[in-house]
Amino acid sequence: MPAHLLGLREWNAENIEEILARSFFLSGYRERKLDNLKGKQVAALFFEPSTRTRFSFEVAARWLSADFYNFPVETSSVLKGETLLDTIQTLKSMGLDALIIRHPVSGTLEWLKDRVDISMINAGDGSHEHPTQALLDLFTIKKQFGCIEGLKVVMVGDIKYSRVVRSSVRGLKEMGAEVVLVGPPTLLPEEFRRAGVEISWYLEKEMKDADVLYLLRLQKERQRDGLLPSLKEYVHLYGLTAERLSLLAPGTMVMHPGPLNIGVEITQKAMDRLNESSLPGINVSILRQVENGIIVRAAVLDYLFKGGGQIG
Ligand code: NCD
Repeated sequence: MPAHLLGLREWNAENIEEILARSFFLSGYRERKLDNLKGKQVAALFFEPSTRTRFSFEVAARWLSADFYNFPVETSSVLKGETLLDTIQTLKSMGLDALIIRHPVSGTLEWLKDRVDISMINAGDGSHEHPTQALLDLFTIKKQFGCIEGLKVVMVGDIKYSRVVRSSVRGLKEMGAEVVLVGPPTLLPEEFRRAGVEISWYLEKEMKDADVLYLLRLQKERQRDGLLPSLKEYVHLYGLTAERLSLLAPGTMVMHPGPLNIGVEITQKAMDRLNESSLPGINVSILRQVENGIIVRAAVLDYLFKGGGQIG
């Protein structure tokens, strides 16, 4: 059976620790090309836009000496009506060993798993899961704080449509963090309580003692039902403004998976203050997350190919 990384739903702390340990190990060799995946052929199939995820997988795979191919969805027979299943079977016949797939439909990879015989890594499926983003965020947090257990992580924004939240909640809870999800009631489903997290409508109250403040992008491409009556009011209540920045305790880390919508989840003024470092002790990790994405994605590829086996 091929090894996959479909989501973090089935992962436990031990699996996560293994990826984090492998990431710390690999990060010592970032300056040098490694041959861990020599002879392996990996392709990216992205049915949604991406900058960081797709490119960091490419850098990671090449760093470990795999052959990496970008499948050109926009000029392929997908446009002639070829199904996803046929496309994947065709790629498998060409000798590819693993596919990194991003798709707008939640659960796509779960559905494919029983129908194709090739390793798959989920690079984001609809609002469902984005496991490598969650793993690279856990790595970034562990690097900064030395541990994850006991930290208070406040995630604010569009919880309802965020695949990052779904994977991160699982990972953070497994690692013993306290997770608080904040957003307007229309974007904050009650069902998250079942995952053992707190939910709150009040950003200012929650951010004061946060170790990590994690900003989430409004997934406008997925919101079809007018869940946000006024963008201005949303920014007023849930955006990171310059005034709110001063509520953060020294040592708080501000994270965002990218792409950043300045003027929505964070205002230009707040961004300027963060860039000027006029706030001693507040730590912005947005670019570090990108850097760590290469290391963690390399660790995931290495894990799957070197017999880490089937999880998720
Ligand atoms: C996230 C995604 O695509 O889900 N971004 C990313 O992978 N860097 C988050 C987002 O698009 O808001």
